[in-house]
Amino acid sequence: MLKDKTIVLGVCGGIAAYKAVELLRLIKKAGANVRVVMTQSALEFVGETTFRVLSENDVCTGLFNSKESSVRHIEWASEADAVVIAPATANIIGKMANGIADDALSTMMMAVTSKVMICPSMNTYMYENRAVQRNIDILEQDGFFILEPGTGELACKTSGAGRLPDPVLIFDRLVKLFYPKDLKGKKILVSAGPTREAIDPVRYISNHSSGKMGYAVAEAAEKRGGVVTLVSGPVSLSPPIGVDVIKIESAKQMADEIIKNMDDADIIIKVAAVADYRPSASHDKKIKKNGNLTASISIELTENPDILKMVGERKKERQFLAGFAAETQNLDVYALKKMEKKNLDLIVGNIVGVKGSGFEADTNKVKFFFRDGTTHDLPLMDKAKVAHKILDHISARVISS
Ligand code: CTP
Repeated sequence: MLKDKTIVLGVCGGIAAYKAVELLRLIKKAGANVRVVMTQSALEFVGETTFRVLSENDVCTGLFNSKESSVRHIEWASEADAVVIAPATANIIGKMANGIADDALSTMMMAVTSKVMICPSMNTYMYENRAVQRNIDILEQDGFFILEPGTGELACKTSGAGRLPDPVLIFDRLVKLFYPKDLKGKKILVSAGPTREAIDPVRYISNHSSGKMGYAVAEAAEKRGGVVTLVSGPVSLSPPIGVDVIKIESAKQMADEIIKNMDDADIIIKVAAVADYRPSASHDKKIKKNGNLTASISIELTENPDILKMVGERKKERQFLAGFAAETQNLDVYALKKMEKKNLDLIVGNIVGVKGSGFEADTNKVKFFFRDGTTHDLPLMDKAKVAHKILDHISARVISS
């Protein structure tokens, strides 16, 4: 999303200014052109050279010290695709809220017409000060996106709100600014990952699902403005930012959480690879081996509830329900059967067991089957892209209905 975009990074004088260096690196790594504007106070905390070298651009530190042009702040304002101010002090917040332009950053902000994200960071008492809160409200009303500071121990030895969030989080929220908000306010319930069916306290039956596809769907939906709940089996992925994650282990637990959360949902997307069977009896003590190499041991299995089918039976007219069909052969036939049996609006069929597609891979090759009989075949692509394609189709149908 940031590739070839021009991002202006405003850095103010706060102890967290050092975190802006890491933020700059993340934005550069995403392929953007970054221009840094530093206030005079920021220069007390981090050197201009660091930002100049890492941004591969001149750094603007004053209105009149540019070699090429004294109107650089105007050019930078008009060429910006987005501006992020991190850390934003009480001073810049106050100036921007009240139309004061007395240095390079505040003057440039007067001319900015792009998206702007402001990341307040200061001592807790300063942050809670009524004037600062009033100014933040004004900036919000003026259409600026305010990233709430984190809470915790601050450099001034107090503890509370005011910490500049982690650069990874700031970067993620900056990227979010660039997505369409076509799912704004829609409640979206997603399931992801495998389930684990316990044999005894140390062993289980599961499958190869990594959760990548489901996590990509949840992340994409949140970026597009959805209010997302993700019911996730055990995976080694970081929870997507801004998503409410409910962790479960077994199919039975997943069924309970999905049923509990489905009534509120506008869109339900079941990506999870639910284990179809569980051991009929789960032992509460570890099963010991008997040392007999020729004797066989068997585990009796019982079928798990089909969660998607349960949801399909309960779903209301206004709810959109999508499922996945992981097949090794006869994709069209099996996918259409599942769509019918589980009362789905969309089934995303994918061939598993081929290189680059299905479980564990970062890419997927899928085909969409819609209730109205239309289909859409996609080439092999990144799971994040597949997630957005799924949401494009759902959004077009949900919004037009
Ligand atoms: N699913 C579910 N509960 C189950 C099994 C599957 O909710 N007990 C959902 C999956 O999340 C997926 C869809 O049903 O969205 C299809 O899953 P898949 O494993 O492809 O098919 P199954 O219905 O299990 O049928 P089969 O294993 O015979 O292919």
